[in-house]
Amino acid sequence: MTQRHLETPVEMSTIVSLAKRRGFVFPASEIYGGIGSTWDYGPLGVELKRNIKEAWWRSMVYERDDIVGLDSAIIQAPQVWVASGHAEGFADPLVECPSCHKRYRADQIDDPSKCPDDGAELSEPRMFNLMFKTHVGPVEEDAAQVWLRPETAQGIFINFDNVLTATRMKLPFGIAQIGKSFRNEITTGNFIFRTREFEQMEMEFFVKPGEDEKWFEYWVKARFDWLVGLGVRPEKLRLRVHEQKELAHYAKAATDVEYEFPFGWGEVEGIANRTDFDLSAHEAASGKSLKYFDQELNEHYWPYVVEPAIGVDRVAAVLMVDAYDEEEVGGEKRVVLRFHPDVAPIKVAVLPLSRNEKLVPKAREVHAIVRKEFPSSYDDAQSIGRRYRRQDETGTPLCVTVDFETVESDDAVTIRNRDTMEQVRVPVAELADRLREQLRAMGSRV
Ligand code: GAP
Repeated sequence: MTQRHLETPVEMSTIVSLAKRRGFVFPASEIYGGIGSTWDYGPLGVELKRNIKEAWWRSMVYERDDIVGLDSAIIQAPQVWVASGHAEGFADPLVECPSCHKRYRADQIDDPSKCPDDGAELSEPRMFNLMFKTHVGPVEEDAAQVWLRPETAQGIFINFDNVLTATRMKLPFGIAQIGKSFRNEITTGNFIFRTREFEQMEMEFFVKPGEDEKWFEYWVKARFDWLVGLGVRPEKLRLRVHEQKELAHYAKAATDVEYEFPFGWGEVEGIANRTDFDLSAHEAASGKSLKYFDQELNEHYWPYVVEPAIGVDRVAAVLMVDAYDEEEVGGEKRVVLRFHPDVAPIKVAVLPLSRNEKLVPKAREVHAIVRKEFPSSYDDAQSIGRRYRRQDETGTPLCVTVDFETVESDDAVTIRNRDTMEQVRVPVAELADRLREQLRAMGSRV
């Protein structure tokens, strides 16, 4: 974890403007005036998200023997959402102001009887289902109505038996999935924190009934530690245990990992004990057995499920906010995103000292070596000082500079470290090894 210099919390508007200016996140449909709370990820944002998903998949699937992956469809048979309880129960209480026509979630405002904007008396709460409806088939009237999935989890439950048969996994084991989910949220906002289209990373961990509480504790700790391992400051994270009355319809217990955003504490990940709710419900509705045969006990039963579920977009928001730092260097403000090297969109930038005709071909040659191993970029516009600042502002851990000595005498280059701003001279022949060493020293595990 890298020390931050900025003492006051960063404003969300600073992050939103940096994200747009440097190509992390753009407002969606901007040329048409935008579509509320919908965002597109630019060249650096897409790399940040890929790195988050890669880190999650590595820790869930590649580094373990007991979890396998899945990629199920977004549109499933409508019965899935009836059986899961979402058609009936996946709803938020909506209240409306008769005077300004603003809508609120009754559970998110201090006084659900008064409009927070103009004080008018709000309507009685009515339950509003959050699932998006659409139609499958060419003619809307004849076509089957379906829903876009509001969570990826159900795709896992309905494939439980397929995965079991294909892999012969034994309890406890998990199935992990990353993909888009859709919710017609009543209130969105706070940048990419709450949107109607978002990406989830969910893992359903199937355990013997009776062992669920032990595994629940295990996953709460493991998921908190995962965020810390991505460089998030632990003092900005906390666990929040759900009270009985706020539990989702499928859960026996739930704990959120929350982050202290500039707008307050917000859920980043939810860990839930879903019991055998989903498997038993799908068995009852489909008539297909979704039980597990325990050879030791010679018994068929529904496993219990512990589910860690996290949003890619929320992690991206956490990482941008948490990495943001400002310091004064030589009388000027330096903005740095102190990303953990495993999530930094670009690991190494190659910069010739100037656009001199001797330097550019050599810098291109050096970049060809670097890009074989590291996501990298090449930049020769403007002064070297400005280019360092640009790389700092997008969180590039290392810059490699090619200068006249490189071509005229030593065939060596300078590696500059984003956090310490220290520079070391290394022979081009050793460059890849030295870059790897420096990234490891900054915490990289890949
Ligand atoms: N399968 C369980 C489930 O979906 P959830 O707490 O509703 O649980 C899990 O969602 C995670 O998905 C949340 O912790 C959050 O990171 C992300 N998420 C949920 N709704 C979101 C939204 N509207 N916008 C962005 N991310 C969202």
